[in-house]
Amino acid sequence: MIKKAVIPAAGLGTRFLPATKSMPKEMLPIIDKPIIHFVVEEAIFSGIEDIIVVTGRGKRAIEDYFDASPEIENHLVRNKKYELLREVQDISSLADIHYIRQKDPKGLGDAVLKAEKHVGDEPFAVLLGDDIIKAGTPCIKQLMNLFEKHKRAVIGVEEVAKEKIKDYGIIKGKKIDQSIYLIENIIEKPSLEEAPSNIGTVGRYVLTPETFDYIKKTPPGKGNEMQLTDAIKMLIGEEDVYGYAFSGKRYDAGNKAEYVKAIVDFALEREELKKDVKRYLEGLT
Ligand code: G1P
Repeated sequence: MIKKAVIPAAGLGTRFLPATKSMPKEMLPIIDKPIIHFVVEEAIFSGIEDIIVVTGRGKRAIEDYFDASPEIENHLVRNKKYELLREVQDISSLADIHYIRQKDPKGLGDAVLKAEKHVGDEPFAVLLGDDIIKAGTPCIKQLMNLFEKHKRAVIGVEEVAKEKIKDYGIIKGKKIDQSIYLIENIIEKPSLEEAPSNIGTVGRYVLTPETFDYIKKTPPGKGNEMQLTDAIKMLIGEEDVYGYAFSGKRYDAGNKAEYVKAIVDFALEREELKKDVKRYLEGLT
C-alpha cells in the first residue's frame, strides 16, 4: 500500500516570471484554487494521507495556504459567510502535510532525495506540481493500482507532440498491454534525433525505496541538475519499471498556453461561470 506522497515544489518557476518573482509557481491559481491544491487533492483522493512537500526559499505561501487562517476565518464568521468558511477550513484539514527544504535547486532527483528520511523504506508516490490531471480515477491512483499488482515502479506516460519531446523524459518501452509498457530505457529531454519514441513521462511516479540509492549515485545530467529520470534509468537495469498510459486529461500548467486552457476548461465546468465564459468565447470566433 502506498501511504506517502512526495510533491517537489522547490523549482524557481522561471517560465512564469515575473509573477513567480515573489510567489511560488505552485500557488498560481486556476480561477480560485492554486495549482498545488489540485495536486494535493489528487493524492488524498487516491487514499494517501501523508504528504511531503519539498520547498525552498520563497515558498512560504504554500505552507500558509495549507495552514489555518484565523483572521480570515473570524472575518467570515462575522460576516456569516459560512459556506466560504467551510471551504477555507477544509483546506487546512486536507491531509497531514510535512515540509522539507531543498537549500539549492539542484534538480528533481535531489528534491525527491530530500524526502528519503520521511519516506523511509516504503514505496512512495511522486506528483509534480506542474501537472494537473483531470480523471475519473485519480491518475496517481491508476498508477498505484498497477503497482499493487507487480510491486514495481510505475511512471505515468502519454504521447507527446514532436516539438515537445525536448521538454520531457522520453521512454523506450515494450507495450505489454493496452496501456502498459515495460520500460527499457528512459532519456531526459532528448533531442528529436536522440528520442527513442514519442512517449513522455508526465510527472506522476510510484517508486520503490531503492530509487533513493540510485539518486545518490546519479551524476549531474541535463542542465547540470540531478535528474530523477537518470536515477530511474539505473533502476531499470536492476528491476522492472512500468509505464502506464493513464486515462484522463492532463494540463501542463508549467506551460503558459496550457495554463490558460486549464483555466478556461475549469471555468466551463463551474455552474456560476460557464454561461458567461462560454458566451464570451463564442463571441471571439
Ligand atoms: C520534469 C522531469 C521530466 C518529466 C516532466 C513532466 O521536467 O524532469 O522527465 O517528463 O517533469 O512534466 P520539468 O517539467 O520539471 O522540467
